[in-house]
Amino acid sequence: MKYPVLKPGPSRPRTILTTIALFLSVFIAFACSSGSKDKLVKPDFNGPNWYKHVVFYHIWVRSFLDTNGDGIGDLPGITRKLDYIQSLGIGGIWISPFYPTPYFDSGYDVADYTAINPDYGTLADFDELLAEAHQRGLRVFTDMVMNHTSIEHAWFKESRSSKTNPKRDWYVWAAVPNIPCVPSPPFGESAWTYDATTGEYYFHHFYPEQPDLNYRNPEVQEAMLDVLRFWLDRGVDGFRFDAIDTMFEDEGTSNPAPDFICLDHPLVYEYVKRIRTVLDEYPDRASVAEIWADPVTTANYFGNGSNGFHETFSLTLTLAFQGTVLSNGAELVPTAIQESSAPLPPNAQYGIFLSNHDFGRVMGRANNDPRRATLAAVMLFSLPGTPFVYYGDEVGLANGTDEIVDVRDQFRTPMPWTSGPGVGFTTGTPWLDPSPGSDTANVASEEDDPESFLNLYRKLISLHNKLDLFGTGTFEAISATGAGPGLLVYARVGEKGKAIVALNFSEQSQNVMLDLSKYVTSTAKSELYSEMPPKLNPANATSYSLTLPAYGYVIWSVK
Ligand code: NOJ
Repeated sequence: MKYPVLKPGPSRPRTILTTIALFLSVFIAFACSSGSKDKLVKPDFNGPNWYKHVVFYHIWVRSFLDTNGDGIGDLPGITRKLDYIQSLGIGGIWISPFYPTPYFDSGYDVADYTAINPDYGTLADFDELLAEAHQRGLRVFTDMVMNHTSIEHAWFKESRSSKTNPKRDWYVWAAVPNIPCVPSPPFGESAWTYDATTGEYYFHHFYPEQPDLNYRNPEVQEAMLDVLRFWLDRGVDGFRFDAIDTMFEDEGTSNPAPDFICLDHPLVYEYVKRIRTVLDEYPDRASVAEIWADPVTTANYFGNGSNGFHETFSLTLTLAFQGTVLSNGAELVPTAIQESSAPLPPNAQYGIFLSNHDFGRVMGRANNDPRRATLAAVMLFSLPGTPFVYYGDEVGLANGTDEIVDVRDQFRTPMPWTSGPGVGFTTGTPWLDPSPGSDTANVASEEDDPESFLNLYRKLISLHNKLDLFGTGTFEAISATGAGPGLLVYARVGEKGKAIVALNFSEQSQNVMLDLSKYVTSTAKSELYSEMPPKLNPANATSYSLTLPAYGYVIWSVK
């Protein structure tokens, strides 16, 4: 662990007054810094199942920090900001694809799995980033895009060159399109593209420039497992696995049955076991997979809890969060949690998030209302699962308006570090216009404001780390007598303690009566709140009267 070294100043005799002044200033600084970086609580990075306890930070490398003035973010830019990331209380980072790419799908079209896009740096830069992250106790996940390559990958170039090329069968070719699956927006209308070189069609779940690998071919399976080993050997702590649900589909047929399988094919679970075996060849590694299915299907990807992915994202929870933030549908959350928890095997946990590079900014979801976005953050960090914070959300970054590849560029705008033309992201011309509002919603302007979004995130993550129960503890909805729409109250019960959370996602102040006697048997401390609530103790816990203002919240820790 690295600490800044403070140089001693010239020594001066200390008077009584300066001693008192010093004492007061330390006291005031301490009293005002609740949850700010001075008082940061660090997560336990090294315990068993560490991935269940930490908060992840998701970085779009192209937009994080440009260190060479070309307008494009790079790996040294991430390295330079590791102290900042650490100041948030983050335990791990997930970096978006940084491989060579023609950028038809913003880097999710990989042209070489074991190299770095020269726009972003070199392998040496990556190694340095990894070493510096580890020195700060930060875990690093890279993005592993397995379903498809780029059309510019050497494997595809070989495969398309002739019908007899040894790599022909590494992709899915047909004289006539014979798999009836269709891409989802924005990836076009057909999953088949005609290739004039050999007069056949190739199959792709995504853009035509992203041909699907043929995982029925054992050589492909082995080649991609070797790619995992390449990065694991370098020391990465695991991967975010892209679009795993699309890796297998039923075999091509001229007469497809109505129940033809395009997603979540039974064969994929067998390959996931092989992926897990490779991860387990290395100590302490973990994974989070992108699966967009119902909870029962998603649970298949965990296997028995030790032979599948460690974590997956959850469609059910994501939709519930979005519904809550967007339309005050707070009642969606308990149902979604109940539905998703039942099939979870031991050791498994969901990755949870409010926004990402595909779904849009939480500020956008919240209709640019900071009160809603605040409440969304309080919810995210106090629900079961591993929170993934999308870079920039911590300063209230809004969706952008510029678009180069597709509409999702609006969610991938430069990180606003300061005000000014390049928003501190670049000294050159940013590759994508910064989001509106970056001049005021940025790190520099929020850094020293205890009430800022940035410091709210710090307080929430600090509390997440301190209580260490939000990731793993059980969730129990609490009914509130007199509650109107938008009120959400729940208890979180973990091995190390309990917490109670009350959120008012509505425009109206709400006065409710809560029976919290089951949880409050000794002391309760209001840890974070929009307005200080009345003291909660065993004597008043049976009929506790709480008034929450519009978009108000409170989190208690309970013994
Ligand atoms: C999911 C990624 O999150 C998305 O950005 C990408 O376009 C598709 N997978 C295809 O790789």
